[in-house]
Amino acid sequence: MAEKALRIVSIDTGSFRRWAVETARILGDVEFLMPATGVAELDRDHRGFVRAVLDMEADFDGGEGSGKEAVDRFADALDKLARQAGEHFTREEALLSAAGSPKLAAHAREHQEFMDTLHRQAELFRNGRLNVARRLRGRLLSWWVDHAARVAAEDFSAAGSEARPAVGAQGARP
Ligand SMILES: [Fe+2]
Ligand SMILES: [Fe+2]
Repeated sequence: MAEKALRIVSIDTGSFRRWAVETARILGDVEFLMPATGVAELDRDHRGFVRAVLDMEADFDGGEGSGKEAVDRFADALDKLARQAGEHFTREEALLSAAGSPKLAAHAREHQEFMDTLHRQAELFRNGRLNVARRLRGRLLSWWVDHAARVAAEDFSAAGSEARPAVGAQGARP
């Protein structure tokens, strides 16, 4: 009986997180899923990326005028996101390296996979596959929220970051 109750709680937690990400309109809707890393510039970046993704319009009517402008805006936003993400990843990897994190290599691989996926999807979009936009927006949002939580589980203390709670104390929980 207790086992069953626990299972229900865990399913509800996952569903709640998904629901919060899928229905998010502003940063405050998902910010509680992004524990602070203790490194101000990383926290600022993570919140900035989530804001940028939330601001991306991903519904296109395919018509003239505003439809075309919206498509161009989305393509520009993807380019900007890729550029800023690349800079952010370089900074983050330098901090993980300075802190002697054993997760540096795995984390850097995640960054590379993210960039590869983003470039592939942006290419499809630029080639007229406008339908990738809506799903891509959702995936980007979910990725950045999860990413912030994963980075928060790292210990940057050896990199001279601000005082922060013990590693894992703020694990990824809704
Ligand atoms: Fe990051
Ligand atoms: Fe990262």
